[in-house]
Amino acid sequence: MTIGNEDLINAATEARRNAYNRYSKYSVGAALVDNYGHLHVGCNVENAAYPLGSCAEAGAIGAMVQQGGKRIVKIAVVGGSSEIGPCTPCGGCRQRIREFADDETLILAIDDSGEWQEFSIRELLPASFHLD
Ligand code: THU
Repeated sequence: MTIGNEDLINAATEARRNAYNRYSKYSVGAALVDNYGHLHVGCNVENAAYPLGSCAEAGAIGAMVQQGGKRIVKIAVVGGSSEIGPCTPCGGCRQRIREFADDETLILAIDDSGEWQEFSIRELLPASFHLD
């Protein structure tokens, strides 16, 4: 079964509910489909030692790698609100996504309005650093 955009967004929204956002109160969920068509999710996990907190995308990418996924076909990031705007991936997460993305990889950023924005990794991280 193919995972459509709506399914992916629902999975990210579900993951967002588990965000451990004790310090920022900002919750983020991420869901991705890998090259095998498998779904992986993550949420942000904060820490009293602030820099140790991790982003939702990092969790989803870590789950993908641990389960044998190689490439990101598409990834949805759910966060923010219609007032402040959707959560587009932070700089560090753009680089994390870049590691497993191609030109065709679809990156969706969604807030609570249900409207989503679509990006490529080239748009989010032009002239990126990579080794291949
Ligand atoms: N956050 C993410 O999970 N992903 C992003 O791309 C941006 C920021 C999290 C980190 C922190 O827990 C909270 O959002 C506020 O920065």
